[in-house]
Amino acid sequence: MALRLGDTAPDFTAQSTEGEISLYQYLGDSWGVLFSHPKDFTPVCTTELGRVAKLLPEFTKRNVKVLGLSVDSVDDHHRWKGDIEETQGTALNFPLLEDPSRKISTLYDMIHPNANDTLTVRSVFIIGPDKKIKLIITYPASTGRNFDEVLRVIDSLQLTANYQVATPVDWKDGQDVIVVPALSDEQAKAKFPKGFKAIKPYLRVTPQPNK
Ligand code: BEZ
Repeated sequence: MALRLGDTAPDFTAQSTEGEISLYQYLGDSWGVLFSHPKDFTPVCTTELGRVAKLLPEFTKRNVKVLGLSVDSVDDHHRWKGDIEETQGTALNFPLLEDPSRKISTLYDMIHPNANDTLTVRSVFIIGPDKKIKLIITYPASTGRNFDEVLRVIDSLQLTANYQVATPVDWKDGQDVIVVPALSDEQAKAKFPKGFKAIKPYLRVTPQPNK
């Protein structure tokens, strides 16, 4: 059964470039991003891993732990690390899981047989501190991901977990947000001391409440 939003992220134990990792133990109380790569020594994946390594302080600032996965062996991952450092100008500074038996790839439905029957697609799972899946994105092997977008979604997920707001199209941290329709105007007045603007009765905007 494919995983869906709100499902519990399955726990697993596997070898990685930083030794044996159990997902739940690794995440602790943090948020998590688990993302898959079709194969080692491939160009798009090489650029993605370099980008995530450079963005690691941004993930850490948001209390997010990142975890990559590629089905090839840890020995291959270690050899690939040198290429990533050489070509992307940064060392791989987070664990990359191996998955030769496809145990994790199968558990997380990362293999889409009509795309490729043995390699994973580019999956991204954002996992909350409650171990529930908060976001799933799937890209084809030929398209590198945009990890600025992953950070943007994390900002939205963390904000909307704590306030009764939603974030509009193309929203970025610091911009106005939407008051959830479930709140009456009276409730919204009490919840958002900076006030809100009703563009339509169902479209009410307020300054980002935690800024
Ligand atoms: C890549 O990461 O460059 C890649 C992997 C599989 C198919 C195509 C590209």
